[in-house]
Amino acid sequence: MPPVPITPIRVGHIDDVQELRKTKPRTIPQRFVRDMPERPTLTTTPLPPPHSHMPIIDFSKLSRGNKEEVLTEIFNLATACEDWGFFQVINHEVDLNLLHSIENLSREFFMLPLEEKQKYPMVPGTVQGYGQAFVFSEDQKLDWCNMFALGIEPQYVRNPNLWPKRPERFSETVEEYSGEIRKLCYNLLTYIALGLGLKGDVFEKMFGLSVQAIRMNYYPPCSRPDLVLGLSPHSDGSALTVLQQAKGGPVGLQILKDNTWVPIHPIPNALVINIGDTIEVLTNGKYRSVEHRAVAHEEKDRLSIVTFFAPSYDVELGPMQEFVDENHPCKFRRYNHGEYSKHYVTNKLQGKKTLDFAKIQTKNTN
Ligand code: OGA
Ligand code: NI
Repeated sequence: MPPVPITPIRVGHIDDVQELRKTKPRTIPQRFVRDMPERPTLTTTPLPPPHSHMPIIDFSKLSRGNKEEVLTEIFNLATACEDWGFFQVINHEVDLNLLHSIENLSREFFMLPLEEKQKYPMVPGTVQGYGQAFVFSEDQKLDWCNMFALGIEPQYVRNPNLWPKRPERFSETVEEYSGEIRKLCYNLLTYIALGLGLKGDVFEKMFGLSVQAIRMNYYPPCSRPDLVLGLSPHSDGSALTVLQQAKGGPVGLQILKDNTWVPIHPIPNALVINIGDTIEVLTNGKYRSVEHRAVAHEEKDRLSIVTFFAPSYDVELGPMQEFVDENHPCKFRRYNHGEYSKHYVTNKLQGKKTLDFAKIQTKNTN
């Protein structure tokens, strides 16, 4: 995580959306009102095929299935990564009590008085603590969302001052949860590698001491969800992202598939996984980090707990030779992942624009 910027960034006044909702439930300040082309579609009815269902991967078939089940599920996983860049994983072997606890504690954290949460402020230009990330100017539109984020691994990304003292057991639970999710990420990367015809441990070896961060996103209800965005469209700067959607929440996540925003219906106890920019680069675009966003809901609040899993900052990345040939020209230059991470967190969320950092510009691509 980058240090605090040397010159303070002028971001203007940022309303805390939870407080706004409490004190002026019908007011939407102009900074949250999106320009017409950015306003969301709010329909939650499943779209007709091929947009109807995000693939579901049964992790237990990968970890404990017979040979045929393993092969079939690896094939399903590969298809999901290639066609969707997103899938929901069921029977993921992360303790359900832990999912439950992290959900409850995150909610308790967001329900604390503002002064308590502001003991852990996200300084503009940084990405850890409580506040709004990715705000860099006074005229930038704001997301209808409060965030709380922490660097988890390796130890040097941690800022101990930002680990909350309340609610009780919050920090221990984040620690335990993150350990479990880390295992899941390594396992998924193994099966993803096998599905790509690579050695199972290729990513684990390449990534070194992987960087992991957690972000809790809290989306209060909004009287005009048609005017705002919960979270701006973006792709994730990670290798893999694991998203837990709190129980009973409304449909909020939307992914851009073939130019259509597809609403994702949560499956109880499942985790949503998506391919991040790292895997797009390594596979030379065979697997893409798909653009996604969150929308707000008129009556219900929504909570998500998101883990970003990425290579160590010192790793050099570029398309693997297995994915480059005369029919698949190299789309990305080689770069240092730490530099990419810095680039990612110092720019506003803007679709897939951040990946331009690594793109080799040719006449046919833009
Ligand atoms: C994210 C993200 C979506 C959500 O935090 O990167 O895409 O539904 N979140 O909260
Ligand atoms: Ni995301």
